[in-house]
Amino acid sequence: MIFKEYMRSQKEMLDARLAELVRTDVPQFSQLYEAMNYSLNAGGKRIRPILFLAVLEALGKDSARYVDLACALECVHSYSLIHDDLPAMDDDDYRRGKPTNHKVYGEGVAILAGDGLLTYAFELMAAQPDAEPATVLQCIRIFAHAAGPAGMVGGQAFDLAAEGNLDIGLSGLRLLHKSKTGIIFSALVEMAALLGGADDRARAALGVYAESMGLAFQITDDILDAVGDEALMGKPVGSDEKNNKATYVTLLSLDEAKEQAAAATQKALAALDGFDDKARFLRDLAVYLSERVE
Ligand code: IPE
Ligand code: IPE
Ligand code: MG
Ligand code: MG
Ligand code: MG
Repeated sequence: MIFKEYMRSQKEMLDARLAELVRTDVPQFSQLYEAMNYSLNAGGKRIRPILFLAVLEALGKDSARYVDLACALECVHSYSLIHDDLPAMDDDDYRRGKPTNHKVYGEGVAILAGDGLLTYAFELMAAQPDAEPATVLQCIRIFAHAAGPAGMVGGQAFDLAAEGNLDIGLSGLRLLHKSKTGIIFSALVEMAALLGGADDRARAALGVYAESMGLAFQITDDILDAVGDEALMGKPVGSDEKNNKATYVTLLSLDEAKEQAAAATQKALAALDGFDDKARFLRDLAVYLSERVE
């Protein structure tokens, strides 16, 4: 299968499973679930769950067993975006080509929709009939650590605190990117390596791949925020400038940011040297993310 078809079929499969999972029969809760599904089904790229499943495939595993776990990753991602767009945070009006959650449902429901997606994700992760309970527990610990105050939430707090402060320096910016974005990539690859029974060498190589991909991903996000096409991205251009964020584009130049993203992509690809053809979609994903315009 060619990569484009693979992406489309994985996305369709994940969209369908997410729609099955996130539902309620309680009429009093229907607005909350509607708000959760509004953001979840707005058409994100599904990079994180696709990457997670692709690592399992690279390790020769049947990734279909872990689709619900992949869906849990997307629930946490969607929650993070709903909260990231709130007026008290980046105050953005568009996401995934539609008005942001709080614009449609109000801030109270948007906050709760995020809370709901985050909490439900851990219920889903805990319910893995096909995996060893001890391994599931380890996965939950890895992901909770990455998404929580020592990881993404910490990064988002630092991102807020650093608004208007362009002298956090490159080392500050590296910490910011690693915590708000990169650590999630590292965690989901580590979980897949664990579930896929990767040996120490493969685990270490996948760790380098994930870290480099996460960095390239957020540098590209910064670049697109500065010079991207709003219609393609489905979210506003210039949000970082509006909020006086320190980004790879403001701290470096646009060209230097592009160079750093390209270097990180090359590092991700080089980390896969010891893998066979089963890792081809991991390689394709690195290239796809480096060329993305959305
Ligand atoms: C956007 O993530 C938020 C960042 C961490 C930069 P994506 O670019 O993966 O957003 P969607 O899921 O495709 O909408
Ligand atoms: C958000 O970073 C990272 C999250 C943890 C949600 P950004 O604020 O740069 O993401 P976008 O550009 O709004 O998607
Ligand atoms: Mg933000
Ligand atoms: Mg934002
Ligand atoms: Mg951004």
